[in-house]
Amino acid sequence: MMPVEGTIAIKEEVKPLRITKRRLYVGQTLYNRNCAICHGLDGSGDSLPVRRGLTKSDPLYEKELPNLYDVITNGVGKMPAFKRKLTPNERQMVVAYVEALRLSRRFPMEKLDERDKEKVK
Ligand code: HEC
Repeated sequence: MMPVEGTIAIKEEVKPLRITKRRLYVGQTLYNRNCAICHGLDGSGDSLPVRRGLTKSDPLYEKELPNLYDVITNGVGKMPAFKRKLTPNERQMVVAYVEALRLSRRFPMEKLDERDKEKVK
């Protein structure tokens, strides 16, 4: 990615992380701690800061977000950067969790087996 004019690109080594169930849970915890305050636990964008006037972002599950990692790293608009707050691995786990939020929204009920249907009731 090209650095924004007037800023210095910080070279960061990002090794692609294999996403396991445990890492997805870590991603969830990190999301709940760092992102939910503005984006809501479900990614809908409904939150107290938004109700108090912060720009509302689109729901995080509506579309694919190919630049999600960069958005988390560098921030966008009123959203703060997480470059210093989260390590590259942690950011990748958050990306995986947001991805899971999106995919779970689109999973049709009728594809679940009976036991799982009970669980989501
Ligand atoms: C202080 C509030 C705040 C926090 C914390 C925050 N965001 Fe945001 N986020 C925003 C705002 C406001 C926007 C809309 C920015 C704009 O368009 O001006 C945004 C935009 C985004 C977008 C772009 C959405 C799109 O439609 O392209 C993504 C993705 C995103 N945030 C993910 C995250 C993730 C993941 C975290 C946690 C690591 C996070 N945000 C933490 C406020 C926040």
